Amino acid sequence: MKRILTILLLLYITVPLTAQKASDARMNAFISSLMQKMTIDEKIGQLNLLTGGEATTGSVVSSGVENKIKKGQVGGIFSMSSPARIRKAQEIAVTQTRLKIPIIFGMDVIHGYKTMFPIPLGLSCTWDMNLVERSARIAATEASADGLNWTFSPMVDIARDPRWGRISEGNGEDPYLGSQIAKAMVKGYQGDDLWKNNTIMACVKHFALYGAGEAGRDYNTVDMSRVRMYNEFLPPYKAAVDAGVGTVMTSFNEIDGIPATANKWLFTDLLRRQWGFKGMIVTDYTAVNEMIDHGMGDLQQVSALALKAGVDMDMVGEGFLTTLKKSLQQGKVTQKQIDDACRRVLETKYKLGLFDDPYRYCNEERAAKEIYSEANRKEARAISAESFVLLKNADYTLPVKKSGTIALIGPLADNRSNMPGIWSVSTDFTKPVSVLEGLKEVAGSNAKILYAKGSNLTEDSLLEQRATMFGKTLGRDNRSDEALLKEALDIAVQSDVIVAALGEAAEMTGESASRTDIGIPDVQRKLLEALLKTGKPVVLVLFAGRPMTLVWEQQNVPAILNVWFPGSEAGTAIADVLFGDVNPSGKLSATFPQNVGQIPLYYNHKNTGRPLPDGQWFQKFRSNYLDVSNDPLYPFGFGLSYTTFSYSDITLSSNTFKPNEKITATVTVTNSGNITGKEVVQLYIRDMAGSITRPVKELKGFQKIELKAGESKTVSFTISAEDLKFYNSDLKFVAEPGDFKLFIGTNSRDVKEVDFKLL
Ligand code: BGC
Repeated sequence: MKRILTILLLLYITVPLTAQKASDARMNAFISSLMQKMTIDEKIGQLNLLTGGEATTGSVVSSGVENKIKKGQVGGIFSMSSPARIRKAQEIAVTQTRLKIPIIFGMDVIHGYKTMFPIPLGLSCTWDMNLVERSARIAATEASADGLNWTFSPMVDIARDPRWGRISEGNGEDPYLGSQIAKAMVKGYQGDDLWKNNTIMACVKHFALYGAGEAGRDYNTVDMSRVRMYNEFLPPYKAAVDAGVGTVMTSFNEIDGIPATANKWLFTDLLRRQWGFKGMIVTDYTAVNEMIDHGMGDLQQVSALALKAGVDMDMVGEGFLTTLKKSLQQGKVTQKQIDDACRRVLETKYKLGLFDDPYRYCNEERAAKEIYSEANRKEARAISAESFVLLKNADYTLPVKKSGTIALIGPLADNRSNMPGIWSVSTDFTKPVSVLEGLKEVAGSNAKILYAKGSNLTEDSLLEQRATMFGKTLGRDNRSDEALLKEALDIAVQSDVIVAALGEAAEMTGESASRTDIGIPDVQRKLLEALLKTGKPVVLVLFAGRPMTLVWEQQNVPAILNVWFPGSEAGTAIADVLFGDVNPSGKLSATFPQNVGQIPLYYNHKNTGRPLPDGQWFQKFRSNYLDVSNDPLYPFGFGLSYTTFSYSDITLSSNTFKPNEKITATVTVTNSGNITGKEVVQLYIRDMAGSITRPVKELKGFQKIELKAGESKTVSFTISAEDLKFYNSDLKFVAEPGDFKLFIGTNSRDVKEVDFKLL
């Protein structure tokens, strides 16, 4: 009897594993048999990814796509949408090619498809992984209803340089927060079953280190120690891989002197061997061809290098398509290298169920019902409001009353197309709610809203042109700056409160949109100065795709609400927060510097041998500047609320623990204000001495809690040796015994602290 029970138990445990293996075995058998029938040209054809031309990010655009599909020269297409168009292209592939292999259809679905959520940097400030996952789930549902099955997201490049325009596309500066978000996004897109018609394959990018380009200039050189890479920049990519991301995109930069796209160490040793990644690797847009300019050889040479490094699919440049056969004949690549890449492309399609039903994502009815639905927009509105960061609120200037007269002023106040921000390629720019529309809707007839533009985006019309591309115009007003200002002041003096909607235009960040001056553009700043002079209370609603330099604004403007670029429901979400229907709770995921000269400035820096003592501005022969303190303007993790929170001291379950044990750190957080609010309780740790130098603080946990006025909650974190691990100089992931500090607080600066020891 006992034996029978044991056998039954064993069967119970092994069946799921066997089922998984069986399906892998089925996939392998299917693909092996298909590949036996494939010619070398057909195999190379599968490695070719072309653009359908709806949104392009380079000077080269794919041509003759239909003809190439017929010739079996296309494995995937991106930037093509709608069930009808995709069905047509798929039909050619599965009816007019010899082997009827379906195409995979991709798109940059980065922060929403048609219903847009906040830009990723904004979304990361929610510190709410359920919301992050929800946004990706909705994006996947909408995109898959429109024929797509692959997205080039999440972008998880750690960035510490706000000059870089693409900081807007990532999750800020922290590897821990970035890793949590990477996991949540992958889960949101891929769900629990890729065969379902409402899940899509995710693609983590840009592998690797794209956010560390010198001087914040896009596509620029990266040079970094392995220890820094492993500890500070690689964790979010690894988290995505651990979460089962199906594909990985290469980056444009070089690593150790070799462009990432040809970096064998990166793809074969690290990603596939060390991390166990089994999916497909795709290049970034023409990244193979760009290696000619990097100085790596001609197109045949660089294409061979990319394939040999472990890359499977070539985006747009057609280097694989036009040179790999010749390289095979000349012995520069092997049949196995081509076969391996082809197999991985076919596996990706198999996992999506495309061999089972190539049209499973083409369903007009679903598209009509599920895209841009009322329910999706409702969720977008809530998520957007959660991403706003209240930077200043002197004398409770906010919330604004839903009564009296409100003067809404600024170049971003009456605009729809900029509201979704960068990478909103698939949405309809006429649909987002402008700030003006949102305020009117939420205030109803109780308040009178007056509007004036007040200024253009910038004095320089050419700069404005470059900053308002892709249909995101702000409608430059040809009146003089003085005339615009006068009109604004005329309504400002009639008002009870001024809401100034200022900042960056959407395309002032994103790809190839780096800036050396990251302040509010000149003419808008002059407008703000003039508005303040009226003596009326001024609320700055700041649009930003990066941390900006705002020292003057912090000193002079009573209230600053950073709304990033909020998405489809921008205006309504902004109104919800301005009027206090929603209490802001966002926390910064990237440090705001005082000026550009401090960059790179990040909270988890090293101490140096000559640190400046806390609270000091300058000391000779210490690590500091003559002309500005070392402090950020707003630290990582910072964000205010309409209420206030107080923290008790930290209690530890024990001050010492052994590597196989755990301790618990507990604080009581109290809502010490008058209204309900949410707080992100943040846990940081410092390793006081190590075999390599360690950061002054590292985020190791956070919990977002909601507290009613006067309510207290106990928040606990468990710490194990696993949380103390880092990569040492042999790149071994270890926890070293010794002294640690543990901090808990409302941001990375304002914390309580205790000591503990790992034995
Ligand atoms: C960007 C990628 C993007 C790709 C396809 C490139 O220029 O770097 O992030 O996924 O274009 O649009």
